[in-house]
Amino acid sequence: MTIDSCWLVRVKMFVKSRLLSKVCFMQTRGMHLLNQKAYVDGEWVTSASNQNFNVINPANGSVIGTVPNMNVQDAQEAIEAAAKAFETWKFTTAKERAHLLRKWYNLLVENQDSIAKIMTAESGKPLPESAGEVAYGNSFVEWFSEQARNVRGEIVPSPVPSKKIFIDHHPIGVAALITPWNFPHAMITRKASAALAVGCTCVIKPAEDTPFTALALMKLAEEAGFPKGVLNLVTSDRNNAPAIGALFCESPLVAGISFTGSTQVGKILYKQCSSGIKRLGLELGGNAPFIVYNSANIDKAVEGALISKFRNCGQTCVAANRFLIQNEIFDEFVDKLTQRVKQLKLGDGSHPGVNLGPLINDAQFHKVSGMVEDAVSKGAKVLAGGKPASQLGSLFYEPTIISGVQSNMQVYNEEVFGPVISLIRFKTEEESLQIANATERGLAGYFFSEDVTQIFRVSSHLEVGMVGVNEGLISTAEAPFGGIKESGLGREGSHHGIEDYTYIKYTCIGNLK
Ligand code: SIN
Repeated sequence: MTIDSCWLVRVKMFVKSRLLSKVCFMQTRGMHLLNQKAYVDGEWVTSASNQNFNVINPANGSVIGTVPNMNVQDAQEAIEAAAKAFETWKFTTAKERAHLLRKWYNLLVENQDSIAKIMTAESGKPLPESAGEVAYGNSFVEWFSEQARNVRGEIVPSPVPSKKIFIDHHPIGVAALITPWNFPHAMITRKASAALAVGCTCVIKPAEDTPFTALALMKLAEEAGFPKGVLNLVTSDRNNAPAIGALFCESPLVAGISFTGSTQVGKILYKQCSSGIKRLGLELGGNAPFIVYNSANIDKAVEGALISKFRNCGQTCVAANRFLIQNEIFDEFVDKLTQRVKQLKLGDGSHPGVNLGPLINDAQFHKVSGMVEDAVSKGAKVLAGGKPASQLGSLFYEPTIISGVQSNMQVYNEEVFGPVISLIRFKTEEESLQIANATERGLAGYFFSEDVTQIFRVSSHLEVGMVGVNEGLISTAEAPFGGIKESGLGREGSHHGIEDYTYIKYTCIGNLK
């Protein structure tokens, strides 16, 4: 190709991409909450550098729209706005905060269809699944609107009559919230509504892949009437994200960080937070065992496996990662599971009847396909799927089952974060626990058994923060979400969810007559 013709191709590609971007933005008209600016100090803003980045639909590679590519200067402004707002927000009553959260919740419910459409466009989730996440995400706002008025202090009997001992909870200050692409709504509301309920202000940094859902939430928070500076949202691409994360960790104006994402990034933030002894909540990666014992109801176990593995195309921290199946029921379970997996429909999440969408981006796609190739090259056998579904698009990977998985394979040791079931056969309960616990991760674990003594024994021996017994879907606003070992620190949701955002103050009143 000559230089001229090469240039022509590039010009044509540029024009095509601009047209595509315009067309796609217009096509998203139904999504009236789609907003292309960031939100700082109650204003819809561009970036200091005036740079933007494209947000891509992973199902077809089209550009949905653009958002500001903000840097540390922008993030600093957002932190300052949140710090200023904290000076008044911390004195609001629990009742006032509960009312605002409830208003936000009502608006989120009214606009659930629009939010779900935006989510499907930018995350690739099938529309019904996006609707499910919207309901799940909204439930945190509802829950913490109720919790706000139930954060109570204590009066403790004093050892001497002349003193009284009071204990109460105070908001820590500005909370910086770094959220992932896999649950673009729920991971924001699980953190932000807890922080707001107790009187903290927030700076949110959503993932590069899914800022539009986050911005839709801000639009509705603004409509609900949160004062300016109480909620701020900074958008950036992957290149700017590490510097913004470091600023959050090191700024003296930020009191605490809450992060959901990879263990690798969590460790960096943990180190960075040490300089200011910041409060830190980490919800990191898992490597969940899914154990089926001889006594299990096999049909229930198959249903549990499908929901636990294929929710969001396997891209959840709590997804079952290693399937341990007891010898005697191995064949029956695997036959039934394989039949069901082969029926799953892969496709664009906005089309009806689709069960699984694409993976979120190239990095994720290469990770998943590379792990399956690694397992197969070391002797694993493919029972279903096992390859890209390139006819649908570049990020689709077939729902896959592989058996004969061994400890030298990546799928055995690492979180796959994709639609891959790895089967491991075991003989005894002791062996299953030994395999299940032989990991640095400890987020969730699942097992199926109809033997009540086994249920108590195994649930107490699994080294995880959350256990599903005869159940593949355990997440809910009412229960504490979080892990042990390298899966994180702290708990989100439940009444414990406010602990990351409050400190306990003890007041002693002395010299009482
Ligand atoms: C996650 O994968 O990070 C969250 C999953 C959930 O809340 O169920």
